[in-house]
Amino acid sequence: MADKTIDVFNPSSEHEASTSIEKESVMGFEDQPEMVIEVEAFGKLEEMGGSMAATIGEEAVVGVEDEAYEIKSWLMAERKKLDAVSIVGIPGLGKTTLARKLYYDDSVLTSDLTDKDLSEELYQCLKGKRYLIVLDDIWDIRVWNDLKGSFLDDNKGSRILFTTRTKDGAFHAQLNSRPHLLRFLNENESWDLLKEKIFHKESCSTMLMEVGKQIARKCAGLPLAIVVVAGLLAKKEKTKEWWERVTESVSSHMVNDRKQYMDTLALSYHHLRNHLQPCFLYFGAFPEDYEIPVWKLIWLWVAEGFIKKHGEESLEDVAVDSLNDLIERSLIIVANKRSDGGVKSCRIHDMLHDLCLRKAEEEGFLQRIRGYEQVSSSSSWRRLCIHSHLLRR
Ligand SMILES: Nc1ncnc2c1ncn2[C@@H]1O[C@H](COP(=O)(O)OP(=O)(O)OP(=O)(O)O)[C@@H](O)[C@H]1O
Ligand SMILES: [Mg+2]
Repeated sequence: MADKTIDVFNPSSEHEASTSIEKESVMGFEDQPEMVIEVEAFGKLEEMGGSMAATIGEEAVVGVEDEAYEIKSWLMAERKKLDAVSIVGIPGLGKTTLARKLYYDDSVLTSDLTDKDLSEELYQCLKGKRYLIVLDDIWDIRVWNDLKGSFLDDNKGSRILFTTRTKDGAFHAQLNSRPHLLRFLNENESWDLLKEKIFHKESCSTMLMEVGKQIARKCAGLPLAIVVVAGLLAKKEKTKEWWERVTESVSSHMVNDRKQYMDTLALSYHHLRNHLQPCFLYFGAFPEDYEIPVWKLIWLWVAEGFIKKHGEESLEDVAVDSLNDLIERSLIIVANKRSDGGVKSCRIHDMLHDLCLRKAEEEGFLQRIRGYEQVSSSSSWRRLCIHSHLLRR
């Protein structure tokens, strides 16, 4: 039986987990700067604009210029009628990255919209304006059906940009959107991204070049796989022998085989130092797409005993170093920064969240309870994770 039950998500102190829409953004075009809004569905955004933009500025985005140009041209086209496009692709292909690049484009201005009654406030804000809405990670048509009444078409050239994993024609017909199939990175772009993540501005030695390109090739143009493998390579000794071992472990059929994709991402987990493994698995306790306040994460890690004192450093500082280590490995994403540059909140990509849950269950570290029927007295989990929305049913 579990010896702990975790409920770390007190909805009164933080916004609740988002459901299918991670973020909705309403953007004004430059020629109408009065239309300057940003929205997060089902919760409030804290000081989102500036700090998020800074985070994006630091991230190297590779190989999407052509796609960004194409979609931007479509967004800025003369057509007056309200129009929609969806960026479509498999998990980790870079849909959100591309949408965010467009969102933070200089020709777009943003600010917060925080009212609880989202559709009503949207309606009021959009009336008479030319706007751009970005809906990230749409998979449930009901979400769109709930909101679409707010998006007026008063022939001002407004646009809606979706990102979604689904290619299903009927789904796109309901969204009334033109699907834009995001392409995979080519070999050169993959190598550029891998190199950038490992060496930053430094150059790669000729000894590692060939094997590095081979690793990049095996990642099959999938940016998420590339940055995670790069995170692993960056943290270990840069020898040909080690890189060759990694080449052998990277699966070749990630695009069509989710297990192989997961196994490749898991390479990074398997090479984490001992105390970082439980720190990483603990992200499985948070709901998907949840923006995790760093102070809360650190307190939980310390309370769990994952963090050990190191020399003169306080437990809190060791915990911050551990988080930074996971971020440098591209296992965790910075969501928001503080004004002094420290990480204020973070999140984890869906695929890596799945990996946490899978490993956590395999290792008896944590079980996430999805329904009362799952609670069994015979299980041997060390932690049970019950999200508060389940308790309120
Ligand atoms: N063009 C790119 N250049 C550099 N890094 C990228 C690029 N595209 C994606 N990435 C990296 O890959 C990670 C996953 O990308 P992203 O979250 O955009 O994928 P996604 O297609 O939205 O996945 P999902 O379907 O799970 O939402 C990002 O956090 C980023 O680190
Ligand atoms: Mg996404």
